[in-house]
Amino acid sequence: MTKITAAISAVGKYVPDYILTNKELESYVDTNDEWITSRTGIKERRILKGEGLGTSFMAIKAAEDLLQKSGTNAAEIDLVIVATATPDLPVASTAVYVATKIGAINAFGYDLQAACSSFLYGMSNAASYIESGRYKKILLIGADKMSSIINYEDRATCIIFGDGAGAALFEPNNEGLGLQDEYLRSDGIGRDFLRIEAGGSIMPPTLETVNAKKHFVYQEGKTVFKYAVSNMADVSEKMLTRNNLTEKDIQWLVAHQANKRIIQATANRVGVSADKVMMNIHKYGNTTSATLPLLLADYEDQLKKGDNLIFAAFGGGFTWGSIYLKWAYNTKN
Ligand code: UT7
Repeated sequence: MTKITAAISAVGKYVPDYILTNKELESYVDTNDEWITSRTGIKERRILKGEGLGTSFMAIKAAEDLLQKSGTNAAEIDLVIVATATPDLPVASTAVYVATKIGAINAFGYDLQAACSSFLYGMSNAASYIESGRYKKILLIGADKMSSIINYEDRATCIIFGDGAGAALFEPNNEGLGLQDEYLRSDGIGRDFLRIEAGGSIMPPTLETVNAKKHFVYQEGKTVFKYAVSNMADVSEKMLTRNNLTEKDIQWLVAHQANKRIIQATANRVGVSADKVMMNIHKYGNTTSATLPLLLADYEDQLKKGDNLIFAAFGGGFTWGSIYLKWAYNTKN
């Protein structure tokens, strides 16, 4: 019996209209365009404005974009996974709401939280279900409204993050395309360096926690940077080595967009040239769970059937890993 592989058969995206520029951030905190650009590569990011709009708003739009572009019938979807660190509500799953809103009436849904590695881990989930033969269509959405958890008085974090959503459909493939290999890691040491202190079960919300701004992201940037550089590079290199790939075999590096310097360090270690590195950090910043699918949507037209893609991500927890995937389709224009 031939092995079922799990391929991405369609992608979609949504970013909010509002553009938060480095210039505008200069009016909130002591920073400047030169510092932000040279240290991170970010020029602007998108922000979701509008009362009552949460992560699901963007996830639904990204899913609808995918469904419309690919002509997929939502009723055929078996499972909707929303990878997110900013669910609409505690307890009530965002994915379930998204599934209902897009008309995925026969699907079940759940959220997956692994900080900036959420989408990467989600790819593993989606692919495993497909490879098992149990399900045929899995919609994986990476979406985050980071502006809801960022303190715009903290220059260490507010310059980095933005809002957005991307979606990918996973289906069985009979040509051996799709996910080939994965190497996923985690280390609990990370929660001292990147976290939101209050609002969870350790420190439920009180007036004091709100006044102390403990519901916003705290990051010890330098430490996270060091772990991110070495770990993302390590796992990407390992992915090549254990699949007998050289840089010549790789068409694209699809790396989490946290900092241009981290992405470049990973590319250098793997040995791929800049033209093979997907990059959109300059226009969206770090959208956490949405960076990888936003890259796929932005570069979809350039991807060719059979292309070898190396994914890499690193995030809070710590969580990180790499996936080797063969692209499964040419874009029909
Ligand atoms: O996606 C999840 C994982 N997250 C990451 O991968 C993020 C990893 N970390 C980073 O990307 C970087 O550490 C940052 C972009 C957050 C910071 O860059 P850095 O090069 O590590 O800067 P730093 O924190 O070491 O700060 C260098 C200097 C300091 O001044 P002194 O002490 O040298 O005088 C900071 O106070 O830059 C100062 N600084 C700023 N200056 C202008 C820190 N933030 C800013 C700012 N504007 N926004």
